[in-house]
Amino acid sequence: MFGSAGYPGSKMAMGAYQAIINQIPKCKVFVELFAGSAAVSSKLSMSPGFIVVLNDIDYEISQSLLLSVPAGITVYNKDYRDIIKAFDVLDNVVFFADPPYEMSVRSSQRKYYRYDFETSDTLDFISSMSAVSNKVIITHYPCDLYNTSFESWRKVDYESMTRSGLRLERMYMNYEASMLQCCDYVGNDYTDRQRLLRKAIRWKRKLSMLPANEQQYIVKYMSMPSETVDDIYLTPGFYS
Ligand SMILES: C[S@@+](CC[C@H](N)C(=O)[O-])C[C@H]1O[C@@H](n2cnc3c(N)ncnc32)[C@H](O)[C@@H]1O
Repeated sequence: MFGSAGYPGSKMAMGAYQAIINQIPKCKVFVELFAGSAAVSSKLSMSPGFIVVLNDIDYEISQSLLLSVPAGITVYNKDYRDIIKAFDVLDNVVFFADPPYEMSVRSSQRKYYRYDFETSDTLDFISSMSAVSNKVIITHYPCDLYNTSFESWRKVDYESMTRSGLRLERMYMNYEASMLQCCDYVGNDYTDRQRLLRKAIRWKRKLSMLPANEQQYIVKYMSMPSETVDDIYLTPGFYS
C-alpha cells in the first residue's frame, strides 16, 4: 500500500512526487493529512530527528498503511482537522494536503473514495487550511475557487499522469521557497538530474585530488549555512 501507484489520485505518477518533494522546506515534522498511499512520504529520505506522520480518515486505508510503513512513521485514522489541531501547536511542521479534488474539475465527474468531498467539504477545507500557522502545501487542479481562496499564496505547477492522461496540477503554498528537506529530486526532470549528478561527480573527483586535511576543511566550509560563512569571512584576524 505505502507508495502504491494504483491508488486513485496517487502522487506516484512520474513528475508528481518529485515536483512536490522539491517544494518541501526543511522541517522537523512532515504531516500528510490525506495520506491515501502516501506516495510523497514513501519517496522522502529519512534523517535523524525528522518525523513523518500519515493520516487518512478511511480505516482500511490507514490499516494497510500501518502494515506497510517502515518503523518510525506514525499513522493516524482521523479527520484531517483533528490532526491539524494536534500538530499545529508545534513549531517547524509542514502540512501536506492532497484532498479529494472538487467534483467539478475531475475528468470523470465521479466519486473515487469512501470518504469523498462535497463542495461544502472543500469550503471547510479551504478555511481550515487558511487558519494553519505552520507551513502548508496543498495540491489541486488549478481552479477559480482555489486561485481566489489562496490568492496571496505561492503557486507552482507540475504535470501529473492521471487515468485520463496528462493533467496540469498546482501546488498552493503559504511560504517562500527555502532550503529543502530532501534534495534527491532537484532538477526539472531525469535528464536534468543526470546533468547535476555528472557535475557532482566532477567536483568530487577534483576534491579527492587534494590532501585529506584540505578536503576535510573544504567539505566543512561548504556545509556551513551562508550566514556563518560570512561571519567567518568578516572575522578580523581570520587569515592570520
Ligand atoms: C487524493 S487522495 C490522497 C492520495 C495520496 N496523495 C497518494 O499519494 O496516494 C485523498 C485521500 O483523502 C482521504 N480523506 C477524505 N476525507 C478525509 C478527511 N476528512 N480527513 C482525512 N482524510 C480524508 C481519502 O480517504 C483519500 O485516501
